[in-house]
Amino acid sequence: MIAGLFFNEYFFKNKGIILAESSEEEIHLPSVQTIGKLSVEEAISKRRSIREYKDAPLSLKEVSQLLWSAQGITANRGGRTVPSAGALYPLEIYLVAGRVENLKPGIYRYNPERHSLIKIIEGDKRVALFSSSLFQNCIKNAPVSLVICAQYEKTTQKYGERGKRYVHMEVGHVGQNIHLQAESLGLATVVIGAFTDEAVKKVLNTKEDPLYIMPVGTEK
Ligand SMILES: Cc1cc2nc3c(=O)[nH]c(=O)nc-3n(C[C@H](O)[C@H](O)[C@H](O)COP(=O)(O)O)c2cc1C
Repeated sequence: MIAGLFFNEYFFKNKGIILAESSEEEIHLPSVQTIGKLSVEEAISKRRSIREYKDAPLSLKEVSQLLWSAQGITANRGGRTVPSAGALYPLEIYLVAGRVENLKPGIYRYNPERHSLIKIIEGDKRVALFSSSLFQNCIKNAPVSLVICAQYEKTTQKYGERGKRYVHMEVGHVGQNIHLQAESLGLATVVIGAFTDEAVKKVLNTKEDPLYIMPVGTEK
């Protein structure tokens, strides 16, 4: 594991990929499990969009597992849990954390290379995200939301216009992985595509384009 981490750090530094800057607050996530309680067939058959959640926090381990399913690194060369056109990885995952054990409410960016969170903004921003998403209650009531954003240029500079299509395909892979991972953890989610892009960008303090918001919690 440790050798793997060193390898990743060396590899990504030499590819010019930015790791955590020393001034940024970084939270290392608990290690992930690659054996779960549910078969992939059970997870596929049970998956449903769930929009009502219990008033209960998520554990940091659950958050770690969800983020890993979305973009985690599973191969020494940087291969991830989801396919990506040209292995260019144009998607970024933000965590809007309201109620997570051992994590302050705030907005964080997932760093796949280090399996860590980088704090962007402190404070509970769930209501702001809900207001940016046509007031869909599931976003206000879930303990967390994962927001999947795109940096289109990473893919379009190689593939031109067609790259946009690839980015949209990739967000589907991520959404399904999170859905199935949530199912396997006994959690519930839904993909949200109806929101005001500029308002979501403002909440996250990013120029990247939001594509999906996925509130996650325990089904009510
Ligand atoms: C691209 C896309 C956008 C969606 N946007 C929303 C949304 O904004 N709000 C919502 O409640 N559900 C949204 N959904 C979830 C669908 O309503 C849901 O998948 C559908 O009703 C089928 O139900 P199931 O997922 O339980 O099979 C979206 C689904 C997709 C694929």
